[in-house]
Amino acid sequence: MTRKIMNHSGCEDAQPASARPRRINERTMAKLNLKAVEERVAPLAGRESYDREFIFDLLLAYGKPKGNVTRLKNGTSLNVAADPSREVAQKNVVYFRETNGDPLAELEELRISASVVRYGPRFVIVTDYDEVVAIDTQVGETIGFDIRDIDKHYTFFLPWAGMEKAQYVAEKIADVKAAERMGKLFDELMAANPGLLEQPNGRHSLNVFFTRLLFCFFAEDTEIFDGSQFTNAVGSHTQVDGSDAADFLRDVFLALDTELAEDKPHHLAAFPYVNGRLFTVTDDEFVPEFTKSARQLLIELGNLVWREINPDIFGSMFQAIVTPGKRADLGQHYTSVPNILKTIEPLFMDELRDQFDAGFDSVKKLGALLDRISEIKVFDPACGSGNFLIIAYKELRRLEHGILERLFELDSKHQMLYAESRINIENFYGIEIDDFAVEVAILSIWIAKHQMNTEFKEKFKLSIPLIPLRETGQVKAGNAARIDWTQVCPNDGQSEIYLIGNPPYYGSKLQTAEQKADYTYVIENTGLSKNLDYIALWFIKGAQYIRGSKSELAFVTTNSLSQGQQVALLFPFLVSLDLEIGYAYTSFKWTNNAKRNAGVTVSVINLRVPRVDQKYIYAGDLQIKATNINGYLADGDNFVVTDRRKPLSGLPPISNGSMPNDGGNLLIKEPAWRDLIERDPRSTDYTKAFTGTEEFIDGTDKYVLWLTLENHAVAAEIPEIDRRVRGVLEHRSKSTRLATKKLADVPWRFAEVRYRETNSILIPRHSSERRDYIPIGYLGPDTVIGDSASAVYDAEPWVFALLTSRVHMAWTRAVAGALEDRIRYSNTIVYNNFPVPPLSGTVKEKLTVAALRVLDVREYHCEKTLAELYDPDKMPADLRAAHTAIDELVDSIYSKSGYETDEQRLSDLFGMYEAMTAAEALKGKKK
Ligand SMILES: C[S@@+](CC[C@H](N)C(=O)[O-])C[C@H]1O[C@@H](n2cnc3c(N)ncnc32)[C@H](O)[C@@H]1O
Repeated sequence: MTRKIMNHSGCEDAQPASARPRRINERTMAKLNLKAVEERVAPLAGRESYDREFIFDLLLAYGKPKGNVTRLKNGTSLNVAADPSREVAQKNVVYFRETNGDPLAELEELRISASVVRYGPRFVIVTDYDEVVAIDTQVGETIGFDIRDIDKHYTFFLPWAGMEKAQYVAEKIADVKAAERMGKLFDELMAANPGLLEQPNGRHSLNVFFTRLLFCFFAEDTEIFDGSQFTNAVGSHTQVDGSDAADFLRDVFLALDTELAEDKPHHLAAFPYVNGRLFTVTDDEFVPEFTKSARQLLIELGNLVWREINPDIFGSMFQAIVTPGKRADLGQHYTSVPNILKTIEPLFMDELRDQFDAGFDSVKKLGALLDRISEIKVFDPACGSGNFLIIAYKELRRLEHGILERLFELDSKHQMLYAESRINIENFYGIEIDDFAVEVAILSIWIAKHQMNTEFKEKFKLSIPLIPLRETGQVKAGNAARIDWTQVCPNDGQSEIYLIGNPPYYGSKLQTAEQKADYTYVIENTGLSKNLDYIALWFIKGAQYIRGSKSELAFVTTNSLSQGQQVALLFPFLVSLDLEIGYAYTSFKWTNNAKRNAGVTVSVINLRVPRVDQKYIYAGDLQIKATNINGYLADGDNFVVTDRRKPLSGLPPISNGSMPNDGGNLLIKEPAWRDLIERDPRSTDYTKAFTGTEEFIDGTDKYVLWLTLENHAVAAEIPEIDRRVRGVLEHRSKSTRLATKKLADVPWRFAEVRYRETNSILIPRHSSERRDYIPIGYLGPDTVIGDSASAVYDAEPWVFALLTSRVHMAWTRAVAGALEDRIRYSNTIVYNNFPVPPLSGTVKEKLTVAALRVLDVREYHCEKTLAELYDPDKMPADLRAAHTAIDELVDSIYSKSGYETDEQRLSDLFGMYEAMTAAEALKGKKK
């Protein structure tokens, strides 16, 4: 039996704390995959009896280091449980309790306890050794099952093994159902009120109308109004045909904006006063006219369970309903709470929790912490429907609750001091360009506040009423590019202000003229390049906002900003403002939506005024200490890698492939080539195999006419060859480019010939960033490489091994540019700058053997294309093993102790690059 458990407020909600990344210096075992975890959990199922060993075995099954588990078991300081006689707890990992009582009731109490807030465990687990109940504190998911069935539920704890849950929320019926029904009502009202959106204040009125409805539904389900007060009123006071529904709703909204009951119509006197801007009636707004079915839909909507909605998710779904073209995505949303926490936790929550931990026994210190958090301001300058602000708000409220609980334990007078939270929603600022999102954001923050008030009540048995809404919120409608951010959230230099969010990413092709103009406006007088991505604008304005102050920022960004040319364009500017990166998350997927499952690859970049605190790079579930984080998000000095004409490290020269410029005449597809050879076998002497990036990866056979000064006249005796050469002549002659026209004199040859009759390496110019390895080719002397790829001639297999290694991949990912979700290889930046230490003959031999093994395995799977072979989900085990062998060998060339992460590889590569370029500069000077 499995049971889904709601908390008292009914929300399946995010809880404090996180799956804290492992420290890189912690002794770790090889990462487990899904199958391995499944196999390791299986023996824990179906036992006759259970005891405390269960939790230790469980942690081991997910790959937690044995030493740690033993220390936890032996009751060392690693076990931070408040009551070690029945609890086991490890900071950031687990809070486990055994009980003789009701596990569920205990979980409810434990999950919001001061100890859990203090130590931020990813999972809170309670068991009576019959039933296990647990909560994933980061995504808010809860589960209950028979302990003997642990093998059926092992996926729940996968974040322990570094496998984050894609929080697919299609099952979160409340959000999806409600959003869908709202969509129906929206459509019905659109049909009943033609031309409404074209009216001057039409769109805004409609947006306000829908947010008001949402508030009413939520309010009547969560004790802000009396139960079903709003829906019942519509049901009993309006005509079935809907004709007077609009008038009635207008009156209800007015009543909600009227302070005294005696000033309201008698039948609406029971509606409370809400205020807070939401119901402030203005002259130019209107309520749409209703039809019979619109009224019916409204009543049905009222009957849904609104208290279960998640404001951080529902907001964006709701937005999708009213935004043309977005409706299809509805119900396909993923919660992004773990991703949002990547900005919030290292930015301030981790430090606040540490302060809580340090002051746990001191009323004075806890009081000071409360003062501190009540002053913190959070600002999202592209806040959408407010999800980042909501999560930040809830995290701070939960910390406040933890502190209050502890203060109450230390001194029972304390708790009663609070009739209102000191975390004021006025300290949460946003800018958003979309009017509807602004309304939803403001509303969602109120809803979040109410949910936290409910949690407060559960804990302290004290109600904090939501209404009348005193705070109006600080989310402003407008264009963040044009607004002065200090006008929205003043920065006096001393306030603790945190800028967070995931600003919009539009590739340069998707930018509107207005956005391009925004960009020009922002970079004026900065000397910055127009070629920067639009999202850079938030970093530029953010950097200008925080410079010289106590405030900091952490934005989620497409990882293109920390790759290739973009780094050179942006990063020196940020450094010139005397800012540093305190922490960064390297690439991870941001998946919001099932239909676009690939998601975008993003990173999180923090900026702050330089200070001595430790810097961290987060990669996957690892936390790596860094001395300095450069623009490539690697531990290294602040430099940028620029174009270089020749290889830095004595590799053979690289060039683009050969360019035909032939109007399709010199290139011959496989059937036509066969035909040519069959008709005149002499043709074999005049053709060669041809491959470019696409042909190589997709396994398409192509050929070229490859003629020389000496043989082209004889070759022209073959009619088909003659026809093709004439075709080239015609094509080039027609060109308006002088250089091309000139090439018509030599129609029998390629426009740019770089081919040499040696073994060669082909490097695809573009390759999907999903692949672990760019499928690089090693070709014989008879194949011509086209200009859609790079070519290295005189190439020995050991060079192929180096280039296909993880070390080179890590280098490429960092310094190459990106084109949408493809890596864009560059000869002058990636290859020519790639640092390679001097290699002995023995090493080259070993590399050669490993390279040949990869080529053999590819050959063995010759029925598959390279696209198939290098699909990371389908890569054959023997091919992966052959690559791993190269990786290990190449790693050992760069580091005696090997690497656990690409970040470590990069750090060494950057160090080597700096040393080599410095030595080169010195040598240049001496000359
Ligand atoms: C990637 S979304 C992030 C919103 C929210 N955090 C989320 O996850 O749904 C970017 C938001 O920026 C808003 N936006 C785009 N251009 C803007 C601008 N120039 N000024 C302010 N907001 C803008 C969009 O409307 C969108 O809501």
